[in-house]
Amino acid sequence: MIREAKEWLDRRTHLRPRLAVVLGSGLQAFARELEDRVEIPYGEIPHWPCSTVEGHAGVLAVGGLGGLQVAALCGRAHLYEGYTPAEVVFGVRVMGLWGVRGMVFTNAAGGINLSYARGALVLIADHLNLQGSNPLAGPGGEGLGPRFPDMSEAYPLRYREIARQVAAEEGIAVSEGVYAAMLGPSFETPAEIRYLRAIGADLVGMSTVPEVIAANQMGIRVLGISCVTNMAAGILPQKLSHQEVLETGEMVRGTLVRYLKALLPRLEV
Ligand code: HPA
Repeated sequence: MIREAKEWLDRRTHLRPRLAVVLGSGLQAFARELEDRVEIPYGEIPHWPCSTVEGHAGVLAVGGLGGLQVAALCGRAHLYEGYTPAEVVFGVRVMGLWGVRGMVFTNAAGGINLSYARGALVLIADHLNLQGSNPLAGPGGEGLGPRFPDMSEAYPLRYREIARQVAAEEGIAVSEGVYAAMLGPSFETPAEIRYLRAIGADLVGMSTVPEVIAANQMGIRVLGISCVTNMAAGILPQKLSHQEVLETGEMVRGTLVRYLKALLPRLEV
């Protein structure tokens, strides 16, 4: 199935991106920056899961950025939508087979670390997989990489160094933190957030981790960027909502687009 999608893309466009970026909830404006881009609705690509969440577009855009060919995945499939782990990582695996060697994953996340504020951009240094599944579980033997991939530097230091450097040059504030992935789709309770803080999480979200595991298996280098769309449950005296997540995405849109535009051509692939 993965190979079929890859071969379909080979026929659909002559472009061969080496770098891909996944754009999460409310963070999809960047795709419009790609020059001479082709936009392919996920629904046209064989076997590609189509996301159903508001704020997730469901389009693969491929085009030029600073002399580099880049693929932008606008929208992703989530476990909480009922997709299987294999479906959630389908796009990453197709990108890997297609020749992508580096991937940037953006997401919306709740801020657990009290030094963060709404709208902050945080580089993911490491993660906690609390979703109760792993995309590599199963019979194996798909020829995608090792059965037991090393995850001791799942978010390579070199990419984070480049990301910090570019942020400094652009005058964009970034922090670093550990991302905890929950299944969702309910937001966490305040007790769950205290627990996550105690086990070392700075951020909480409902995506990215399966994709990062699949990317690591294939030897794709990963950078994760979380946008703190809200402070996590129980921190502020207010309720959480998907509306706030989308509004904050809107708020940081300009900064994130500028950041990705400067950063992507600098990542070594
Ligand atoms: N929790 C989980 N996922 C999220 C949050 C949150 O507070 N904000 C955005 N995605």
